[in-house]
Amino acid sequence: MINPNASHAIGVFDSGLGGISVVRAVIELLPNEHLIYFGDTARVPYGSKSEETVIRFSHQISAFLREKQVKMIVVACNTASAVALKSLQKSFSIPIVGVIDPGARAAVKATQSKHIGVIGTASTIRSGAYRSAIRAADAQIKVSDQSCPLLVPLVEEGWPEDGVVRQVLQKYLSIFETDKPDALILGCTHYPYLKSIIQEVIGDTVQLIDSGKETATEVQRVLQDMGLLNPEKGDPGKHKFYVSDFPQKFEETASRFLGRPLENLFKVELEVLESYK
Ligand code: DGL
Repeated sequence: MINPNASHAIGVFDSGLGGISVVRAVIELLPNEHLIYFGDTARVPYGSKSEETVIRFSHQISAFLREKQVKMIVVACNTASAVALKSLQKSFSIPIVGVIDPGARAAVKATQSKHIGVIGTASTIRSGAYRSAIRAADAQIKVSDQSCPLLVPLVEEGWPEDGVVRQVLQKYLSIFETDKPDALILGCTHYPYLKSIIQEVIGDTVQLIDSGKETATEVQRVLQDMGLLNPEKGDPGKHKFYVSDFPQKFEETASRFLGRPLENLFKVELEVLESYK
């Protein structure tokens, strides 16, 4: 029997537009699923905020998405996944999937040398969420991590990969120089956009793990297991986008990241968002 909610949309949220990398991966894998995306562009970045604040923001957005009757929520933001996922899963009855566990699992599978590198925002690295997820899967694995706070603004500004971006990466990734992992988790929504330059700087013996891509596979698995895959086959899914500020700027960058214009983009006033608990 088909679950009556199976034709509802998947909710995806991020602190801003970085989560579009996860949307892109979900659309590629599940083209006929409807999606509702929320980007908290008024309050980005989350990566430098306290746990308490990121948890509060994540609850407000999840409550907003629940009101839109989504069948599942994907926490596309690594920072929000690292600090708020457990609390969200306790409070909401629909399935909630984050990006940390899928990324960690893929890295554990990929490493031969039992040494994994992780890069992410300051909050993600401070939380130790990737480290714990990796260690829970295999306690023998060595984890080296590094926060890279300058990368998000460089991607948002669309800086070319050569020059400053390369220099910044060389500096951040130099911690891996003497003792190189053989797998590196791109633990932030923005890093997949820098994949080729990261690969160049760290060298091709290191396999890059895109947490967003791994999460799309997890979304497919969960929907399948729960009988929630959209039964309406054939037509491509419809996608709606909500942001808390500056839709024009979001449209400009998100359409570049997604490779096509955004059809349905709406602004949610911050006071309205803050009324959700
Ligand atoms: N979306 C955030 C993450 O994946 C990066 C941007 C931010 O700091 O809010 O950690």
